[in-house]
Amino acid sequence: MNSIFITFEGIEGSGKSTQVKLLTKALTALNLPYITTREPGGTPISEAIRTLLLNPEFAEMKPETELLLYCASRAQHTGELILPALAEGKIVICDRYYDSTYAYQGAARALDENLIDTLTQFATYGRIPDITFLIDLPVHVGLNRIKERKLDRLELEDFAFHEKVRQQFLSIANKCPLRYIVLNGSDEPEIIHQNIISALQPLIGERND
Ligand code: TMP
Repeated sequence: MNSIFITFEGIEGSGKSTQVKLLTKALTALNLPYITTREPGGTPISEAIRTLLLNPEFAEMKPETELLLYCASRAQHTGELILPALAEGKIVICDRYYDSTYAYQGAARALDENLIDTLTQFATYGRIPDITFLIDLPVHVGLNRIKERKLDRLELEDFAFHEKVRQQFLSIANKCPLRYIVLNGSDEPEIIHQNIISALQPLIGERND
């Protein structure tokens, strides 16, 4: 059995969660074994770290603390959940992974990329996603979509912050064309879903279980 590690990335309001749901429905219909998970989060310890990270009352959190907490959450999540599921031959669908750290803490918080490289290698045990879907969308469209919700600490950042995040995702996608598929987040969800299924077809087809 061949495992597949799929990640979704994008700015706030890009529609990742909708696409994760549509993909799980499709995999269930195909009778393929999968798990869905998210970052920060996915295990009890990582979900506890998520609560700390996203609490809007912790506005004083230092970027350095933020980076280390995202990486701590990732180390636990990867070691406890993602790697064992992949070892069992499952498809792992993860809503955000380390590219979000390069976008939010690297580009938007201006933390050192070399340090992020080192921490990422450490926290992921060197595991790179097999395929990453970037759902790209203009920032004003994404922020408009989430304006009715109770916003978390990161969502409360200003337009310029989210623009840096968007540009960094596009730049990573450009540098990693073999791993990245960029989708137009302004398209109808069903169209985006069909594009995702088409891109996954060769990987799913390779599974010999
Ligand atoms: P979510 O709202 O998509 O679940 O993501 C939680 C927030 O955490 C979102 O604002 C993006 C942010 N984030 C980072 O800043 N760095 C990271 O490494 C990850 C995984 C998420």
